[in-house]
Amino acid sequence: MATQAAASEIEAVGVIGAGQMGSGIAQLAAASGCGVLLLDSDPAALSRAVASISSSLRRLVAKGQLSQVACEESIKRIRCVSSVQELRDADLVIEAIVESEDIKKKLFVELDKITKPSAILASNTSSISITRVASATNRPCQVIGMHFFNPPPIMKLIEIIRGADTSGEVFSTVKSFSERIGKTVICSQDYPGFIVNRILMPMINEAFWALYTGVATKEDIDTGMKLGTNHPMGPLQLADFIGLDVCLSVLQVLHNGLGDSKYSPCPLLVQYVDAGRLGIKRGQGVYSYGARSPSIKPRPSL
Ligand code: NAI
Repeated sequence: MATQAAASEIEAVGVIGAGQMGSGIAQLAAASGCGVLLLDSDPAALSRAVASISSSLRRLVAKGQLSQVACEESIKRIRCVSSVQELRDADLVIEAIVESEDIKKKLFVELDKITKPSAILASNTSSISITRVASATNRPCQVIGMHFFNPPPIMKLIEIIRGADTSGEVFSTVKSFSERIGKTVICSQDYPGFIVNRILMPMINEAFWALYTGVATKEDIDTGMKLGTNHPMGPLQLADFIGLDVCLSVLQVLHNGLGDSKYSPCPLLVQYVDAGRLGIKRGQGVYSYGARSPSIKPRPSL
């Protein structure tokens, strides 16, 4: 194994996937002083990410939480790139692309070939096995899970997942780097759903079952969980924030990986995803966020 950079020596961070999560991760790395290479296969996603990072940083300036100079410098530290080859000098690469094991593995094979031997390769996967992604590379001891929460600049937590072969040195470097960007770290072993989604996704799925079987309206389900259990938002609204496709994919991983039918995704969740109602990012999920009215009504009963 090549010697890794200590967290303070991580200067260049590659972020792959400029969607909801990747754009927030790029913002955090840039604000902590790192040079950021932001890559997405979709050029429109890169333009949206740059606009959203700029407006997010400017909101911090308006609130007095960031100086104008620091804001402008952070924006300048982010460079959009169009090919994986341009990440060859990154000390740390954080992948935040689509939640598909095959696609992530292909990317990690490519990253393994082009990044320098000391580079650490991290995945922001919500649920896919880090051990399996790592095994696609020739550096499994330098592959690790860095599970940020949505939106990354606001949420305080990073769940670090150690694959079967992740080295202690890599874990320490990534933990220190996570703390440097202002996060609290928890550590999970590499089992389906890790810690947070193992507990959260069955609750979201149960909320869909309650809606699907006509137990209550979406508003009452969410209000019940907000006021009855002191959650800041209800599980159906949270699912819209996370993305219903992401929720479905995590449940499928839990179901396949743990083999218990209690993780089987609710048919209503599956149908929403089939219909493209993916939540806030599409303007429509359980709730409607745009002008278009929902084309599918939740079934009142089974
Ligand atoms: P998203 O759909 O908003 O963004 C994904 C981006 O990746 C898109 O811009 C897409 O063009 C790009 N992409 C897809 N394949 C690519 C490839 N091969 N090379 C380069 N770019 C590619 O998705 P989101 O929500 O940001 O999720 C990304 C990852 O983060 C997923 O693994 C997800 O499970 C995980 N995650 C999501 C959370 C959430 O609340 N949405 C929370 C924590 C983790």
